[in-house]
Amino acid sequence: MKVLNFGSLNLDYVYAVDHMVTPGETLSSGGMQTFCGGKGLNQSIALAKAGAEVFHAGLVGDGGDILLDVCRNAGVNSDYISRVEGPCGHTIIQVDRNGQNCILLYGGANRKVTEEYVNQVLANFHSGDILLLQNEINLLDYIIKRAYEKKLTIILNPSPYNEALKSCDFNKVSMFLLNEVEGAQVTGQPEPEEILEELRRLYPDAKIILTLGSAGAVYQDAKVQYRQSIFPVKAVDTTAAGDTFTGYFIASILEGMSVPDGLRMAARASSVAVSRAGAAASIPLRREVDEYNI
Ligand code: RIB
Repeated sequence: MKVLNFGSLNLDYVYAVDHMVTPGETLSSGGMQTFCGGKGLNQSIALAKAGAEVFHAGLVGDGGDILLDVCRNAGVNSDYISRVEGPCGHTIIQVDRNGQNCILLYGGANRKVTEEYVNQVLANFHSGDILLLQNEINLLDYIIKRAYEKKLTIILNPSPYNEALKSCDFNKVSMFLLNEVEGAQVTGQPEPEEILEELRRLYPDAKIILTLGSAGAVYQDAKVQYRQSIFPVKAVDTTAAGDTFTGYFIASILEGMSVPDGLRMAARASSVAVSRAGAAASIPLRREVDEYNI
C-alpha cells in the first residue's frame, strides 16, 4: 500500500506582529522569516518524519528549489512533483505575540494542475493505495473522481474551506480530518457535537477526526468515538499544528496503531510543532515526539 499526497507547496513569508493588522491600519512588524510550507507539503513532511513512506505530487514555480529540497531532506519522495512557469504558491502570515496566526494565500503554481498531470500521477497508484488531499490546489473534484474510479482510499482535509469544495463528491471520501471551523462550514452546524452528528448523517461510512484547538480532538466512526486532549505548551507559532496532527495520525494508521494511540501520538507531535516557529520547520521527528517531555 502506497501513500500519495497530492497537495500544495508554498513559500511562507512570516511576519512577527504585536497583533493582527486591522482594516486601515499600517503596522510595523518585528521581523520577517521565510519558511517552507503549504498544507500539502507540511502533511507530507509530517508523514515522513513520523516514519511513513509518502509520495508527494504537486507543482512548484519560480524559486521552488527550496521546496523540493525540504521534501527530499525530510524523506518525502518527490518524483511526481513538477515545475511550471510563474510564481510558486506563497503566503503572507502574521504571527502575533500569542503564537496565533492569520494567513493570506496566493495559489500560484498550486493552481496550475491539469487533468493530464493528474492522470500521469495517478497512473502510478492502484487499488488500496491511499490518497491524501487538502484544498489548496485546483481540480480537487477531478482528482477525487479519478482516484475513486481507481479504488484508492481517499482521505480529505477540506482546508481551507471554499466554494470549490462544493463540486467535490464527499461520498467518495473514506476519512475526513478537519477543524471545528471547517466542520461548521461543511455542515452548517455551529457546535462540535452537532458537526459530528451531521457528518455522520451525511457520510455514514466515513471516519471523521474533528480537531478542536485547545479542546483537543475527537475521532468518530460508525461504531465508536474517542477523545484526545491536547498536551499544553507555550505557543510560539500555531502554523502547521493541524498539518502535523494529520500527518502523524495517518502514519499511525499505516503502522497499525490503535486509534487512541494514534490520536495521542498526533496530539503530542502537534504540541511540539506549536512550540516552534515556522511550518515544515516546526514539524518534529518521531524520536522527538516519543522523547518530548510533556
Ligand atoms: O497549514 C499551514 C499552512 O497553510 C502554511 O504552511 C501555509 O502555507 C498555508 O498553506
